[in-house]
Amino acid sequence: MKTIIEPFRIKSVEPIRMTTRAERQDKLCAAHYNLFTLQSQDVLIDLLTDSGTGAMSANQWAAIMRGDESYAGSPSFQRFEAAVRRLMPFQHIIPTHQGRAAEAILFSILATPGANIPSNTHFDTTRGNIEAGGAFAHDLVIDEGKDPALIHPFKGNMDLDRLRAYLAEHGESVPCVMLTITNNAGGGQPVSLENIRAVARIAHQHNRLFIIDGCRFAENAWFIKQREDGQKDRAISDIVRDCFAEADGMTMSAKKDGLANIGGWLALNDAELAERARARLVMTEGFPTYGGLAGRDLDAIAQGLSEVIDEDYLHYRIRTNEYIIERLDALGVPVVKPAGGHAVFVDARRWLSHIPPLSYPGQALAVALYLTGGIRSCEIGTVMFGRQPDGSEKPATMDLVRLAIPRRTYTQSHADYIVETFAELATMKDRLAGFRITEAPRLLRHFTCKFAPLSPA
Ligand code: F0G
Repeated sequence: MKTIIEPFRIKSVEPIRMTTRAERQDKLCAAHYNLFTLQSQDVLIDLLTDSGTGAMSANQWAAIMRGDESYAGSPSFQRFEAAVRRLMPFQHIIPTHQGRAAEAILFSILATPGANIPSNTHFDTTRGNIEAGGAFAHDLVIDEGKDPALIHPFKGNMDLDRLRAYLAEHGESVPCVMLTITNNAGGGQPVSLENIRAVARIAHQHNRLFIIDGCRFAENAWFIKQREDGQKDRAISDIVRDCFAEADGMTMSAKKDGLANIGGWLALNDAELAERARARLVMTEGFPTYGGLAGRDLDAIAQGLSEVIDEDYLHYRIRTNEYIIERLDALGVPVVKPAGGHAVFVDARRWLSHIPPLSYPGQALAVALYLTGGIRSCEIGTVMFGRQPDGSEKPATMDLVRLAIPRRTYTQSHADYIVETFAELATMKDRLAGFRITEAPRLLRHFTCKFAPLSPA
């Protein structure tokens, strides 16, 4: 059969409240055109993030009832630890309330002032946690990963020559080398097993730790199976184990490929480092057998990890993105290609080329998607990255809009509706106007700043 169906049926539904364009216009005005300020019941299809917004399975809800809330030594922790270790064979597995808590603990130890930490591309919270300690975060993704339209099977790969040069230049100041799989900030693009192994080898030749940010490890393994020589007949779980066998540790947000609504972990092989991490954990998150989570959350994650490596699930998941991208491409909407794992990225700067970067074409597109279709997306461009430390503004490298797809939540008709909204926008996109910012905090302005529309040119 050619149709890739959702490999589940729906037992429990959550109604979507339908809204009219006029209502959405009012909500937008009240929110000062900032989509983060909207209330989610005023959104029809919420593609703000794929983090913690997915649907849990019947077996996960059943696991929640098995959750044991003992303060210490809970069987929920034992099930969680065993489930993680089945896929990621690390010595020490330390639960945290979400991914950034694992980063905060790891970098409170490794990111000493003046330290240098490379990755393919650091996610914002990873960068924030590194810089908070006075260390520096650098992105060394391959050049192909920076060209939205260029087709390459592993656009998330690390540039190995630049990594070698980086380690030679920064020497002892590099505590670890990181790799984010898939590369979220670079469009959800995968990293090959060959590249993971090469990065591990180079890090180890220099006596440096190799840490994987594994948030979307299962999606990454699916791409390896589809695209890498010699991998197509292998089980996803074997590919996953091979990826993590190379690493000395990992950080994880279970809100992504843990298929849970909350949770994360830090895993390490080094006993001394793990002890320091646990000491920090006890101060900031909780006892080492629950780490900021309820026992039931640990059980939901343990069950989620056995479901996320299911090939029918991964096939449907990745196919959804490809399906949307193929149709947007046919409409002439410029998208980041090939399809990434968790989101569709639209090149707003190219599509709305009449809106200059400092008038925020990504924001103009995100607002138009909401107004026309009730779809909430996220600007990843000059609004998010344009403000300079001295208060001035300059265009970000790209002005993208991310449509992040929550796991197991929307169906193919939702995907068709998204495409139809773009088709509608295509007829009027040249009349869309940019925005100016009327009020903004100094840091992380995109979450709370206020906008006013500019009049069409
Ligand atoms: N690393 C990556 C690659 C991520 O995408 C995220 C979160 C984190 C770490 C932090 O994990 O949210 O559990 O603390 N990404 C979300 C997103 C928020 O929308 O892309 P967290």
